[in-house]
Amino acid sequence: MSTVLYPGSFDPLHNGHLDVIERAAELFGRVVVAAMYNPAKPAGFFDLDERQAMIEESVAHLYDVEVRAFAGLAVDAATESRADFIVKALRTPGDFEIEQQMAHTNYAVSGVRTVYLPCRPDLSFLSSRFIREIAQYGGDVSPLVPAAVARRVKARQPGPLAGPTTP
Ligand code: PNS
Repeated sequence: MSTVLYPGSFDPLHNGHLDVIERAAELFGRVVVAAMYNPAKPAGFFDLDERQAMIEESVAHLYDVEVRAFAGLAVDAATESRADFIVKALRTPGDFEIEQQMAHTNYAVSGVRTVYLPCRPDLSFLSSRFIREIAQYGGDVSPLVPAAVARRVKARQPGPLAGPTTP
């Protein structure tokens, strides 16, 4: 039985993320899901507290899954959570390149190791970026995200075909 940290932007959480959380819980035992800032994506759609609340509602059916919002480094979140590993999900070869670089960097600065879980093939096309884009144009994201996320997206959407709400 291990504790793993699953960090991500989760802006917003989608069905692929939820599948990874479910499998990590099954494989490792305790999972700490960390909603974090990605410095490459500074303008969030939801703030960290909203992301944390949505994830909490979406994992309510799971045993030993904790959700936290962190503003700092993933390795510090891992240490603070007493995580044995960081877990990351891989969708594409492109994901592998960036994740491998982050995993090596995180290990070099802290000794925290990263393990990868492959995404479920039928969910591997999902991306929070496109979900945000659909949401900003008033589209329906409910086939792609947990119900708790779909509700919150809907609550903040403009009318259909209104165009993006943020530049
Ligand atoms: O879902 P994302 O955007 O791919 O997640 C990326 C995230 C948030 C896990 C990554 O940007 C991150 O770890 N951010 C915290 C800052 C940090 O630890 N940076 C050093 C990376 S080597």
